[in-house]
Amino acid sequence: MGERLSGRRVALVAALVGLMMAAMPGFGQGLARRWAAHGKALENGEVPLTILDLKQSGNELSGKLTGLGYGVDVKGTATGNHFELFVPEWDQKKPLIVGELANGELRWKQWSSELVAKPATAADEFPKLEYLEPPALHKVPYNGLAKTPPMGWNSWNLFAEKVDDKTVRTMADAMVSSGMRDAGYVYVNIDDTWEGTRDAEGNLSTNHKFPDMKALAEYVHSKGLKLGIYSGPGPRTCGGYPASYGHEAQDAKLYASWGIDYLKYDWCSAGNIYKNDALQPIYQKMGDALEASGRPMVYSLCEYGMGGVEKWGPEVGGNLWRTTGDISDTWESMIANIEKQVPTAPWAGPGHWNDPDMLEIGNGHMTPEEYRVHMSLWSLTAAPLLAGNDIRTMTETTKSILLNKEVIAIDQDALGKQASPVKKGELETWVKPLADGGVAVGVVNLGAVAASATVTVAELGLKGNVMARDLWAHKDVKFGGGKYTATVASHGVLLLRVSAK
Ligand code: GLA
Repeated sequence: MGERLSGRRVALVAALVGLMMAAMPGFGQGLARRWAAHGKALENGEVPLTILDLKQSGNELSGKLTGLGYGVDVKGTATGNHFELFVPEWDQKKPLIVGELANGELRWKQWSSELVAKPATAADEFPKLEYLEPPALHKVPYNGLAKTPPMGWNSWNLFAEKVDDKTVRTMADAMVSSGMRDAGYVYVNIDDTWEGTRDAEGNLSTNHKFPDMKALAEYVHSKGLKLGIYSGPGPRTCGGYPASYGHEAQDAKLYASWGIDYLKYDWCSAGNIYKNDALQPIYQKMGDALEASGRPMVYSLCEYGMGGVEKWGPEVGGNLWRTTGDISDTWESMIANIEKQVPTAPWAGPGHWNDPDMLEIGNGHMTPEEYRVHMSLWSLTAAPLLAGNDIRTMTETTKSILLNKEVIAIDQDALGKQASPVKKGELETWVKPLADGGVAVGVVNLGAVAASATVTVAELGLKGNVMARDLWAHKDVKFGGGKYTATVASHGVLLLRVSAK
């Protein structure tokens, strides 16, 4: 009896606490509604709208986050007034949003913006767009470019929205004076945030940061370099700027008229309109438009490796395609990206490359050893080498990594094979066959302490006596008894070029 009574009391207290919690902001249904935030104005003057449509069950949150350039499912928890939300599709460990509810407003930090949301009104809507049927599939002819993986520089990793005409001109100067151009880094690529607005005829302008794109292209060309630009198949880029939805042919002609040499085409808001089964026809649309523009432009597909892109990339005229989400300047991110590159190896070859994202070398958050691993793995896997650092102020150490010609030669090898790991574990061995019949071999130490690595002639698929060179030490080394042993630092690499004598 006593037990039953106390059981009832517990149930009663629990119910009361439940009621109190439901009445407290952040608990019960406190966060469940459609929230609208009007963020900081973009470079083209537009004020971006963000909608967070939340459902709540106890402390559990779920819903959809939509910005101009993306739309994703979110999941998370509320604790008191605080809440955090993950985008499971992007990252299950790190919340995208951490925020709080105060005075009827929801505040959170998302990327570099602080957003303040109020309950959405009927006016807080994204413009309704006509659904454009994806075209039937056909083969877009190869444009003859990127016979070896593209090399150059891209503005995004370091500058993000802070790139402008002057930055690009001074970077082009530095590409020449630093020796980057002569080492093969010829593309100077402007990423997102150059876009202005569309006029009534759909013609796209540049924003105030790029007063004259044609003149900029002429300047970059006068330095013996090439100019790249950025757009996407959705109505908006990931940064919320106008992209090419319904304007593919018009935009391709515009780029050609400016003298553009390279287009990075980023899925972003196309995901709000199309499912992944439309990836191929939608990328084909811009492939056709580039071909029809009459100016050969390297076509870089940026859709984070979705929908088996490595299998159909060349069909849509693609010269390279991302195999991963965005890289950041950390060892974990860099290694995670190269691991995702592994299954795509059979599809790399002259004219069409798997892209584990741009380089972070010289951006300051990895050690020189780790950046040597980054450069080695990108070269072994025949990845595009797009530097993402400030070329104008690079240190001698950064230069020695980006400008190591013997390593660049591995990346640019004419055979165009992508290395695969032949041994996994703390010491990972990658082997890349080369045009001269030899191989490049890299042993990466993923562990926390230095380790002794042995490379055998047999695992390289070679026979008899071999010649070998250590590409970071810049010296010839000797295989004895069919093997070579060296100590590899933690988060370091041994990179050899080996050929039969
Ligand atoms: C996406 C791409 C990045 C960069 C940004 C720009 O996140 O993957 O490489 O282009 O968009 O908004």
